[in-house]
Amino acid sequence: MQRVRVRVSTARQEAYEIIIGAGTLARLGDVARRSLSPHVRRLVIVSNQKVFSLYGERAAQSLREEGFSIAHWLMGDGERYKTAATLTRLLAFFSESGLERSDAVVALGGGVVGDLAGFAAAVYLRGIAFLQVPTTLLAQVDASVGGKVAVNTSAGKNLIGAFHHPRAVLIDTNTLQSLPPREMTAGWCESIKQGAAGDRHLFDGTCSFLRHHTLDTALARKQGLERLIAAQVAFKASIVAGDEREELTRNDHRSRRILNFGHTIAHALESITRYRRFRHGEAVGYGMLVAGEISKRLGLLATSELELLRDAVRLCGRLPRADDLREDEILSRIAHDKKMIDGQLNWVLLERIGRARIVEGREIERRLLRSSLRAGLKNISEKRKSEGEV
Ligand SMILES: NC(=O)c1ccc[n+]([C@@H]2O[C@H](COP(=O)([O-])OP(=O)(O)OC[C@H]3O[C@@H](n4cnc5c(N)ncnc54)[C@H](O)[C@@H]3O)[C@@H](O)[C@H]2O)c1
Ligand SMILES: [Zn+2]
Repeated sequence: MQRVRVRVSTARQEAYEIIIGAGTLARLGDVARRSLSPHVRRLVIVSNQKVFSLYGERAAQSLREEGFSIAHWLMGDGERYKTAATLTRLLAFFSESGLERSDAVVALGGGVVGDLAGFAAAVYLRGIAFLQVPTTLLAQVDASVGGKVAVNTSAGKNLIGAFHHPRAVLIDTNTLQSLPPREMTAGWCESIKQGAAGDRHLFDGTCSFLRHHTLDTALARKQGLERLIAAQVAFKASIVAGDEREELTRNDHRSRRILNFGHTIAHALESITRYRRFRHGEAVGYGMLVAGEISKRLGLLATSELELLRDAVRLCGRLPRADDLREDEILSRIAHDKKMIDGQLNWVLLERIGRARIVEGREIERRLLRSSLRAGLKNISEKRKSEGEV
């Protein structure tokens, strides 16, 4: 079992703990008891049907053993349920079940559940405590750490949100055994992103795990995964601790913004395919390749480093094709997103693996952008063709 402490600077708490290990779900009650105030009596587990049927009973049992009274509430499965309408229903449930300011919420599921339940906890009675129990790789390495919680509106993703830190995060790596392969690929892409944007050692460790873990014994694989997730979480925690609220004025290589590496293109790809073709992390896989191509063409990144990035994205798993998407459509989507964020578009680019540079959008020519798109989006499918597949 590994533990990572995250420093935060809110009035309510100065730190919280992330516990990572195989089978740790059975210790949820104990973690809740230690991290929540002694006044907490009632807990609402927020989840969805799929995850709750796999892990809900184990979670509830462990909490009951510590004397908590438990209710649960299940939301629909998928990003399209991360809305204000779902939020309203959840808040009504909190109120009907008599949840008080001294009670708490447990988010059991992927990033969708974590973001929605976390936001509900942030606004219910002006904020109550919550615990994160992330069950997807993406949520374990990224979404559950850092205190950002939100819901989507018709005008955009995560448009209504807050910063609300959990009191603890419990990561049971065994829950990944039931996760579909595409969800693992998506989580690996975000893991590669974290290493590429800010930590060469983490990047190498992630690649090495992806290259060799199939050859390891089951025990070595388990331990390797646990150590790697802990390293990923520690990295994210260190960036967040240095720039908790993602200050707009910060542009340096340790600002929270570097975690958006690959995301300008990723959001455009997701949006022009109406969120149907790519899992978010898969789109980030392509987004990193395009950002890498831009970095190379601007003379920031050596070709050998870009090659490392390509290898790393390939190691994450197969991505849906992207070379049939129209460049014009991608470019106009980026322009549209730019308007949404005050006309400021900052690209997170790379100087080398492990060191990001934030560059203003207007410094990048359209022609360069086009050729980078062409090169970045064809990358993975070319590899597929050369492997003799259709
Ligand atoms: N708050 C943040 O800092 C932050 C960071 C990154 C992403 N996010 C958000 O996270 C969301 C994406 O999260 P996600 O990728 O986890 O998607 P998700 O929550 O939709 O989960 C993916 C799928 O896996 C299923 N699932 C979850 N755990 C499972 C398990 N153990 N076994 C089998 N199936 C399981 C879910 O039911 C779902 O169908 C997005 O809404 C994104 O905006 C937030
Ligand atoms: Zn992301």
